[in-house]
Amino acid sequence: VTASQLSPGPASGQPAPASAQKVFLDCDPGIDDAFAIVFACGHPGLDLCGVTTVAGNVSLARTTANALAVLEFAGRPEVPVAAGSVRPLLRPPVEARQVHGESGLGGARLPDAQGRPTDEHAIDLLIDTVGASPGEIALVATGPLTNIALAVRRHPRLVSQVADFVIMGGSASRGNVTPAAEFNIASDPEAAAIVFGAGWRVTMVGLDVTRQARATGAVQERMRGLGRLGRDLLLPGLGGYYGGEAAPAHVSPGDEAAPAHLRPGAGEGAPGVAGGADGSPPVHDVCALALVAEPGLFGCLPARVEVETAGRLTSGMTVTDFRAPGEACNALVATSIDVPGFWDLVLATYARVPAAQDPGR
Ligand code: RIB
Ligand code: CA
Repeated sequence: VTASQLSPGPASGQPAPASAQKVFLDCDPGIDDAFAIVFACGHPGLDLCGVTTVAGNVSLARTTANALAVLEFAGRPEVPVAAGSVRPLLRPPVEARQVHGESGLGGARLPDAQGRPTDEHAIDLLIDTVGASPGEIALVATGPLTNIALAVRRHPRLVSQVADFVIMGGSASRGNVTPAAEFNIASDPEAAAIVFGAGWRVTMVGLDVTRQARATGAVQERMRGLGRLGRDLLLPGLGGYYGGEAAPAHVSPGDEAAPAHLRPGAGEGAPGVAGGADGSPPVHDVCALALVAEPGLFGCLPARVEVETAGRLTSGMTVTDFRAPGEACNALVATSIDVPGFWDLVLATYARVPAAQDPGR
């Protein structure tokens, strides 16, 4: 289903068409994770069948509460949510509250969820759901890979039971928390090493493409036409990146956190819009779901990806070898994105969510 084929009208509350791709999402909401959840709820070609949460951007308690609140806000309270790992396998917990705010949703203030997570642990919900529908469910992970690593260790056959496995994480170029490492991988390199070595093909949607998916001023102007969805989640979420302030100067240039004059595309977008004219915030995690929904928007290349776990300066680096022989390749790495096509798809998908049809107060 492409953007032009998306029919207007609310998506949620209607059963997904039989042809829809089942998706199971492991995430750490997080502003862009929340945007990814809404995308999965709105796209007619996706059928979100389960959500698990992991500590990452903020604590496990907050990522779980956020997942529940976003699903209810998007009109999908029936999607089961199970909480998972409270910290990385070995390393101390890291959080990104300076990026996503204390709540994890930036400036967005959603109604507290009425529902609760299931009593099952995330790993059991993931294994049971995929195991009940072998070959049918695309597993997507947009946070640290702790839950996924524990799941493949507990149930190795998971790698052959998924229809596909797509992550937002890593980078074949430079990182965003260090010059070498991207946040999801850097948070739990040991988990990532287990996941990339588990025997499945990992589709890695990394910073190489996601840092191009920036919500510029022009994009944010289009979000203003999306009723409560734009007013209560998308715009305040984006506005809350780094508390809406300029990011600290210590981070590497070219990232959402880089000093304004060092960011790529300086001068794009409307000044004074969240993220500023030059550092518009990227919606990293939405790219992973967009690739499942419309793979033609991305260019991908096979590669051998291994995760550095011991490097003093490079821990968490996804060392990507595009020259590896076919039989050694364990990953499909996204290397290009049709940015206008991506935003057309995302905004058309968001327009199908009931909250986008509701002007609210
Ligand atoms: O590096 C970007 C990733 O880290 C995204 O998944 C974001 O939500 C954070 O978890
Ligand atoms: Ca995330």
